[in-house]
Amino acid sequence: MQTVSLLNSKGGCGKSTIATNLASYLANGGARVGLMDLDPQGSSTTWLKARPGMLPRIQQVDEENLQQLHQELDYLVVDFPSGIRGPKLARVLDQSNFCIIPVLPSPHDIRAVGAFLRDVLRSPAVGNGRCQLSVIANRVKLHTLVYQSLENFLSRLDIPFISTFRETQNYVRTAAHGLGVADMPRTQLSTDLDEWRKLVGWVKQESYSLEREAV
Ligand SMILES: Nc1ncnc2c1ncn2[C@@H]1O[C@H](COP(=O)(O)OP(=O)(O)OP(=O)(O)O)[C@@H](O)[C@H]1O
Ligand SMILES: [Mg+2]
Repeated sequence: MQTVSLLNSKGGCGKSTIATNLASYLANGGARVGLMDLDPQGSSTTWLKARPGMLPRIQQVDEENLQQLHQELDYLVVDFPSGIRGPKLARVLDQSNFCIIPVLPSPHDIRAVGAFLRDVLRSPAVGNGRCQLSVIANRVKLHTLVYQSLENFLSRLDIPFISTFRETQNYVRTAAHGLGVADMPRTQLSTDLDEWRKLVGWVKQESYSLEREAV
C-alpha cells in the first residue's frame, strides 16, 4: 500500500479537495483506495459519506481498521489538518510514500509555504528519499500576476511542481455530493483532467519504481 499525504501548514489551500479528488481518480482507474481523514473538521469524511454507492468504491480508513486494510488497499490517501509542524511533521512524512503540498496563488500563502517547505526538507524521510515530495498550485486564475509569482516560486524549488488546478466551481459543486472531477462526464473537464493525469501519473510512476526496487 502506498500512502499519499496532503499537507500544508496553511489552512484552506485545498488539502481536502485534492485528497478526495485524488481518491476518486485512483478509484476510477480501478485501484483499491482508502481515504483517511485526520482533520477534526471532517471534510473528507463528510464527502465520503455523501458518495453514491454505485460509484467506484473508496474505503473509509481510521486508526482502528488501518492495520487490517493495509494489505487490502493499493493507495491510502490521508487528509491532514493544517498546522502540522516540527516532530509531528517528521513522523507523518516518515509514514508517507508521497506528500503533496497544495499552494494557493496569494502572497500570504507563498510566504507561509516557504517556511513549511524548509521544515519538510529537513525531515529524515525526505532526506533519505523514503518520502517523495511534490507541490501543486491550486485555485489558480491563469494569466494573473499573482499566479505568475506562484509559478515562478514553485518552479525554482528543488521539488517537483506537478500540476496546476484552476479555480472552478466544479470542485465546490461535486464536493457536496461525494463526487470528484473523475466521476463527472469527461467532456466538461478536459483541461482539469489533464492536470489530474499528471498528478496521478506522478503518484503511480513513483509507486511502480518503488515496487521495482523492492523486487
Ligand atoms: N480548485 C478549486 N476551485 C474552486 N474552489 C476550490 C478549489 N480547491 C478548493 N476549493 C474550495 O476552497 C475551500 C478550501 O478548500 P479545502 O477545504 O479543500 O482546503 P483545506 O486545505 O482542506 O482547508 P482546511 O485547512 O480548512 O482543512 C473549499 O470551499 C473548497 O471547495
Ligand atoms: Mg481540509
